[in-house]
Amino acid sequence: MTELGRLEDLPADYVAALREQNLVPLWPNLRAVMPPGKPRPLTRATHWPYATLKPLLLRAGELTPIEKAERRVLVLANPGHGLDRMQASAAMYLGMQLLLPGEWAPSHRHTPNAVRMVVEGEGAWTTVDGEKCPMKRGDLILTPTGLWHEHGHDGREPVVWLDVLDLPLVHYLEASYHVDGERQVQRGSRAYACAGLVPTPVFERSRRAYPVLRYPWADARAALQGLAVGEPELEAVQITYANPETGADAQNILGFYALMLRAGQTLRLPVRSPAMVFHVIEGSATVQVEDQRFTLAEADTCCAPGYSAVTLANRSSSSPTFLFVADETPLHRKLGVYEIRA
Ligand SMILES: [Fe+2]
Repeated sequence: MTELGRLEDLPADYVAALREQNLVPLWPNLRAVMPPGKPRPLTRATHWPYATLKPLLLRAGELTPIEKAERRVLVLANPGHGLDRMQASAAMYLGMQLLLPGEWAPSHRHTPNAVRMVVEGEGAWTTVDGEKCPMKRGDLILTPTGLWHEHGHDGREPVVWLDVLDLPLVHYLEASYHVDGERQVQRGSRAYACAGLVPTPVFERSRRAYPVLRYPWADARAALQGLAVGEPELEAVQITYANPETGADAQNILGFYALMLRAGQTLRLPVRSPAMVFHVIEGSATVQVEDQRFTLAEADTCCAPGYSAVTLANRSSSSPTFLFVADETPLHRKLGVYEIRA
């Protein structure tokens, strides 16, 4: 490959004249923005153990009242992007959020899409678009773009959940903003309680963009176990959190999945373009990303850059491991840059 000219090769007065006119020569930067063969991601494989994160999060509860935080979150920041950028990957933001008994995180809505995966604690709820969503361990609750949401806590122990947002992308697009709102009137929902059965009042299907806002872990876990038992030859026991009206991903930008590793199973994932995040709901796993290996205990989280070889393993010989996975697949597919490399 031909070595391209460098900025230092150009006369300083020429570079200054260019800059004066808001002009930049492409060739010194061409290889950096379009490297040969594959991207050079800033995203680094990173592991955030819950055992070290949790005491720091609880300390935030002592240091900063909810009124001063609005959302009491420690951001799981990827050092490859620089911690201050608050991003886990190019398009994903991760935050571990703490809500203490009696606290209320006020109603707001914003353009970035969010989901929360409940890590521990009982008695908290999120109201999304008026629907009260109880928060139990392993539940996935959507707060899609533009929908009002607030959090409350009627239980006795601290509640912690993992927020996953497409904030870095929406912020990059200069489309990120929020609006504060009033406390919502709550209603429950039992629609879409069974797979394949959708509400059809007088033959009309719902036109809501996000018909399901809460995916209970009990249902997801049962679906995974049903798959594992019913299809013993299946290599990857995995489900996608989907929109039941369209079959598409539950949200537009990021994809969300649950994956079960059978006892003793090793699963080599195909090398794909999107970055991925893994969070252990139950059990433990080793996650090998290229030549780095992390041992994830329950409630641990890690991320892997796109275009990397990832192998998941459950070292337990007796019990399965359940993982929550978030990734950038819907975004890559929609943009036409999705790739699988064997
Ligand atoms: Fe929010």
